[in-house]
Amino acid sequence: MLILQQLHKTFSTPQGELPVLNGIDLALDQGESLALMGESGSGKSTLLHLAAGLDLPDQGRISIDGHELSTLDEPARARLRREHLGLVFQQFHLVPSLNVIDNLRLQARLAGREDAEWTAHLMARLGLSGREAYYPEQLSGGQQQRLAIGRALAARPRLLLADEPTGNLDEQSADTVLALLLDLVKETRCALLMVTHSARVAAPLSRLVRLHMGRLKDNAP
Ligand SMILES: Nc1ncnc2c1ncn2[C@@H]1O[C@H](COP(=O)(O)OP(=O)(O)O)[C@@H](O)[C@H]1O
Ligand SMILES: [Mg+2]
Repeated sequence: MLILQQLHKTFSTPQGELPVLNGIDLALDQGESLALMGESGSGKSTLLHLAAGLDLPDQGRISIDGHELSTLDEPARARLRREHLGLVFQQFHLVPSLNVIDNLRLQARLAGREDAEWTAHLMARLGLSGREAYYPEQLSGGQQQRLAIGRALAARPRLLLADEPTGNLDEQSADTVLALLLDLVKETRCALLMVTHSARVAAPLSRLVRLHMGRLKDNAP
């Protein structure tokens, strides 16, 4: 589903070269859920951005569902993202000028896979039925993130990439949102790569890797 081979990434900063990823190898199979942990600044978001084709590695190969990213130009990478990936970030990134149902439909529309039955099912699963006409600002943080998760899954992607999806929520909303995310991942049988710095959040996932000094360590406690 997702294969990363020998990824290297160095940022140029005013202070000089900052090596962040130093040879990342990772393979994620269909149906697997993987927690990516590591200290703040260790490069977790950088890795996720590379995996999503939002940024390019200096070296290495990234393959999503059999498509090698380096062979694609930016429009083709954007199409691949739309059609194969769901993305969830810590900041919900909902479209403020669109109501709940249009935020939910947006991704599926862009992917050309709108499905009214699935959308209605998702609305119910998100606990947002009846709030179709609300705008994001009228929702709680937990509700906004549930909507962002629904939007990411509206086109039934094969891979969901989530960067600290509960990082902006209080503990109780975080638990509800995480449980919902994991249920929907199971239901849609998509693979999940989730960045978190919480061992509690990582616990229910099937695998755990830790990023340290630009490299991944498997199953570290
Ligand atoms: N676009 C960028 N330009 C320069 N430095 C960056 C850029 N993006 C991230 N960094 C730096 O790379 C390191 C890793 O960042 P990040 O991947 O966001 O870490 P994490 O998500 O694990 O907290 C940090 O030191 C950060 O400041
Ligand atoms: Mg980060």
